[in-house]
Amino acid sequence: MNIGILVTSDRAASGEYEDRSGPLLRQILHANAPWEITHYAVVPDDMATIAATLVDWCEANVNLIFTSGGTGFAPRDVTPEATRQVIEREAPGLVEAVRADSLRLTQHAMLSRAVAGIRGQTLIINLPGSPKAIRENLQVLLPVLPHALDLLLERSGTETQHRIV
Ligand code: MTE
Repeated sequence: MNIGILVTSDRAASGEYEDRSGPLLRQILHANAPWEITHYAVVPDDMATIAATLVDWCEANVNLIFTSGGTGFAPRDVTPEATRQVIEREAPGLVEAVRADSLRLTQHAMLSRAVAGIRGQTLIINLPGSPKAIRENLQVLLPVLPHALDLLLERSGTETQHRIV
């Protein structure tokens, strides 16, 4: 499974501050999933750059891309718009679940405009930029992602994890 991590931040891209979200994402994924992080980039909050990078990675057969940052209300927060330009099918349940869970932890969760969706055989998920939020979001997402990717890639790997309660 090929994974991409795309950090979107003007300040991190210019070297003004050191991004902590990307390394944390890498660390959590490494510890919790048997996936290889094949693509990693820090880009400015520029819609065209973000969209072009996402398209490149989809064409390079990355199976799952996490973006980090740029989902809030600041004028330069355009990651959801760039993602919408690229996806062919929305996956709203993922971000609905994340926001619902996060609202138990902080009211500010309602300020995330994150989207998730599919282009070809690539699932793209927006995450907020704060390391705390990334930890909280991944707790919700990680358990369902193996099955999501099996469905997307038409594999039967985690079929046995279906349970009727
Ligand atoms: N979600 C969780 N679980 N925990 C958080 O601390 N922070 C929120 C929200 N989602 C937060 C969260 C805040 S303060 C903002 S502004 C939005 O995510 C968008 O963050 P971003 O602009 O870094 O993408």
